[in-house]
Amino acid sequence: MKILVTSDLVRPRALERLKHYGFSVECHSNPVPLSYQALLERVAGFDAVLCSIGDTIDRAVLDRAAHAKIFANFGVGFNHIDWQYARSKGIFVTNTPDVLTDATADTTMLLLLAVARRFRTAERLMRDGKSFVGWATLRELGIDLRGKTIGIVGFGRIGRAVAIRAKSFGMTVIFSARSQHETDLGTQVSFDELLCESDVISIHTPLTEQTKHLFTQREFERMKSHAILINTARGAIVKESDLVIALRQGKFFGVGLDVYEFEPEVTAELFEHERVVMLPHIGAATIDAREAMSNLCADNIIAAFEGRMPPNLVW
Ligand code: 8YV
Repeated sequence: MKILVTSDLVRPRALERLKHYGFSVECHSNPVPLSYQALLERVAGFDAVLCSIGDTIDRAVLDRAAHAKIFANFGVGFNHIDWQYARSKGIFVTNTPDVLTDATADTTMLLLLAVARRFRTAERLMRDGKSFVGWATLRELGIDLRGKTIGIVGFGRIGRAVAIRAKSFGMTVIFSARSQHETDLGTQVSFDELLCESDVISIHTPLTEQTKHLFTQREFERMKSHAILINTARGAIVKESDLVIALRQGKFFGVGLDVYEFEPEVTAELFEHERVVMLPHIGAATIDAREAMSNLCADNIIAAFEGRMPPNLVW
């Protein structure tokens, strides 16, 4: 039994576990993950594929994967996989929920604090040795989070984990979601109300046909002019070209991004704005989360080969 691992994100211990179980494991990494073309050419001979967000698992790949029982995705989001088509072919698709919730919620707060307290400019002044010259940092004023309203778009595991954190910072939590939620973590409102009332908007919805470009010029115009926008979900939920226009027009106190519409490409103009803080999609990049994600991938693959339902099937 052969497993194709498309990137070097998976931790060695889980790979050892799979080898110990009897799989032969072919890892692509160091430093370039498998390209789409290479994936198409290689996938036919494998019984399982351990993939991640960098891979497009479309009909062509699934059609070539003649022996594959399972595509185990290293990550919770699976918008890059045509899972309906996989299901129609009897191929399992699994993900890694729960274990990266805290890491991603923490990254959200990291970006929020960095934007709210103008971390980038303050830290740079420090490194340039200019921070205490005329108390330059005192001119770079941030804002308090206490008393501000955070609007959370999408109230799944990560949205709720952000709500808990935001409440502990003294923020008022409102949220919008497709289904009704009974919760004391915040007040459910319509998406339009959320746009108008929030001082901070944080995106935690999956990328689907419905959420692609949920944020365009129109939504930015509805938002408070000095609102903060944070995105740790998926880049394409925000239309990046419109975000650039809004920034140019002076909109937003700041923007915090961990994800990008054309990842790994980043719209160059975003770099021109001091009030934009950007991370390279490190939402779940902690040793703890990566170990647990790797283990879940192994659990799912082993279950599929033992004739059990994989625990994290996405349908
Ligand atoms: C992953 C993510 O680390 O889980 C997800 O959906 O976006 C990230 O946090 C990344 O996708 C690596 O596969």
